[in-house]
Amino acid sequence: MSTATEQKMNAPVITIDGPSGAGKGTVSHLVASRIGWHLLDSGALYRVVGLAALQRGVAFDDDDALAEMVADLTIKFVATPGGQEQIELDGHDVASKIRTEHCGNLASKVAAVPAVRAALVVAQRDFRKAPGLVADGRDMGTVIFPDAELKIFLTASAAERAQRRYKQLIDKGLDVSLATLLEDIAERDHRDANREVAPLRPAPDAMMLDTTSTSIDDVVAQVLELAAHLRPVDDD
Ligand code: DC
Repeated sequence: MSTATEQKMNAPVITIDGPSGAGKGTVSHLVASRIGWHLLDSGALYRVVGLAALQRGVAFDDDDALAEMVADLTIKFVATPGGQEQIELDGHDVASKIRTEHCGNLASKVAAVPAVRAALVVAQRDFRKAPGLVADGRDMGTVIFPDAELKIFLTASAAERAQRRYKQLIDKGLDVSLATLLEDIAERDHRDANREVAPLRPAPDAMMLDTTSTSIDDVVAQVLELAAHLRPVDDD
């Protein structure tokens, strides 16, 4: 554990937590690129772990085997010139594979295993680098960066979140049902909010922003305004 003084010397962090489909991913990307800070997409880490368990045939109810598997994985986030996300699992690009609803559900399952979460703590904290970090997830403000300078908790109604996911998937040419998506979202919310370790909930000092009827641009503007007083740190 670092001391309070050491933590102050660290790069500043903005945490953006909330349930699936609240707009965290888009808002975090836009905020990070506008201020030129690093981005941690922690959901992608859990998605990669879910995919790896599937590929390796590790049982989703075998906590010990899942923990052992995580310790053995090589996960790499690669920054590409166009700003497009490239995520490698054991040297293979899995960026698009992990974006399916199926992988989201697998992620939610492995994310409920305490030893899996514990194994990913250090890797997530390593993203905190100069000039600063925008961290997107469920427990960024509560567990991973409890000393973050700015904590945002994004919410939106389940119906609106299902509608957004539906539009995204239809735009990608996928055949999905809105009713099934709504059920999936409700099931995932329940699992994420009721697990024993790091359940989805706002940090006591988080700013709550409801995005149900606010445009992404307005949410980004609000976050940037809240972040205006934060001072990036230099590399050295
Ligand atoms: O944000 P996402 O949809 O990519 O996340 C996928 C799943 O991973 C989500 O259902 C819950 C889990 N998750 C988590 O438990 N903790 C995080 N910090 C990020 C994601």
